[in-house]
Amino acid sequence: MADRPRLTTSAGAPLASNQNSKTVGANGPVLLEDYQLIEKLAHQNRERIPERVVHAKGWGAYGTLTVTEDVSKYTRAKALQPGTKTEMLARFSTVAGEQGAADAERDVRGFSLKFYTEEGNWDLVGNNTPVFFVADPYKFPDFIHTQKRHPRTNMRSATAMWDFWSLCPESLHQVTILMSDRGLPVSPMHMNGYGSHTFSLWNDAGERYWVKFHFKTRQGHKHLTNEEAVEVVGNSRETYQEQLFGSIEDGQFPKWDMYIQVMPEMEAEEFEKKTGWSAFDLTKVWPHGDYPLIKVGELELNRNPDNYFAEIEQSAFNPSNVVPGIGFSPDKMLQGRLFSYPDAHRYRIGTHYESLEVNKPRCPVAHYHRDGTMPFGLKTNPDAYYEPNSFGGPVEDPSVEEPPHRYAGQVGRHEYRANADHYSQPRALFTMFDAGQRDRLFRNIAGAMAGVPSEIVERQLGHFEKIDPAYAEGVRTAIAAHAEDNPSASTSHAAE
Ligand code: HEM
Repeated sequence: MADRPRLTTSAGAPLASNQNSKTVGANGPVLLEDYQLIEKLAHQNRERIPERVVHAKGWGAYGTLTVTEDVSKYTRAKALQPGTKTEMLARFSTVAGEQGAADAERDVRGFSLKFYTEEGNWDLVGNNTPVFFVADPYKFPDFIHTQKRHPRTNMRSATAMWDFWSLCPESLHQVTILMSDRGLPVSPMHMNGYGSHTFSLWNDAGERYWVKFHFKTRQGHKHLTNEEAVEVVGNSRETYQEQLFGSIEDGQFPKWDMYIQVMPEMEAEEFEKKTGWSAFDLTKVWPHGDYPLIKVGELELNRNPDNYFAEIEQSAFNPSNVVPGIGFSPDKMLQGRLFSYPDAHRYRIGTHYESLEVNKPRCPVAHYHRDGTMPFGLKTNPDAYYEPNSFGGPVEDPSVEEPPHRYAGQVGRHEYRANADHYSQPRALFTMFDAGQRDRLFRNIAGAMAGVPSEIVERQLGHFEKIDPAYAEGVRTAIAAHAEDNPSASTSHAAE
């Protein structure tokens, strides 16, 4: 006992026993005055908070962003100036599975980064793919419903997924990536990260550049096949946690090279005229030939959290967290996300989620949001509790005003999908695949389509046909082979 801290109640009073309930006689009933027993049971009942509505299963660690190059002509952000080192937190995740899901499942991976910069937190909440399934936030909740459990069967539904995808051909690019060799990373350390959206950078002269962020893994871009994943999950459901946590504990710190693609503000219009794609369409990449990768620096993860719940489960990433020199873009999806994340955190964690240690900026914070649950750590001047005031409260700083967007259009619900090109970028990707990669793509899709009604399968094959007839033909052949090998699993066609 001498060298160990004394056990106390949560109010700090020393505790005489943590072994036996207080009862009337050895076998008697428990007393209401055994308040610490009641406390203990009541605390247990409150140990869980809602899991994230998407990206519930995650793995995370702290690290450092080091800027090794000079990109100061694009941005005034202090964290992106040459030589700057910034403490950061990363959280990786799968999208569809619940908190207890296995790690090695075919799914898109989240790639969330929180940079604790001297000008406030900058969060880049991206994925391991440069594009996404849908281009409009209107579609996001519906899309996610197709990835989650069917209301009646409480199982995931291949029919719902392919029904939605085949009715939303803007998903083709992301579906092709997901079903390809790149759809199931070996570990978080073996995947690239992308900001995915178009963001902007702006410099001291008020010039804006559209930008895409890329993080290229130095551990090798490595993926599992479906067959390998079955074996991996059979042995352990927690392989990502084991690998990421274990590697950092062993001093093997994973690293990524950070790059940007840059487009001058007014070039977006020209880009659209030239390619037929909007520079703000999240289902499209910018060709690297026209917009080469520009190196910024390197990211290293080098410290495991001590408390997974407090530091990873309660971490709260907001695409709306930007700092002077970094801005948004007209990307509809990004705009939708600017509302969605802080709203999710207020519900999931609480009003003052940003005063939790993991989310807290490492620079001074001064605002006029008041009261609510647990506003801890906010030291305010008691007389300056409104603004404007004459009592020395914090005031705005016009020098950090972002330049206005010059690239804009008319307000309205524009039919931007009419004549949209959903096919040429997945075609470019498919063309790059060799015979083995194509074969695995076909088989992954055929497996994922097991049980899907033939009308939906045919609709989807129609889209593959428009990408490349060989794509449709390959999937059709793989579906027939899958049905033959798995008569009981009944593919769509076998089910007829
Ligand atoms: C309009 C579209 C979208 C909406 C409404 C949306 C909404 C959400 C919500 C509500 C969460 C849970 C947040 C929490 O409880 O902590 C979440 C998590 C996440 N989303 Fe999205 N999302 C959208 C699109 C995207 C896109 C396009 C990406 C990537 C490019 C993305 C990446 C992520 C990641 C990485 C997380 C997990 C964050 C973490 O690690 O805590 N989401 N999303």
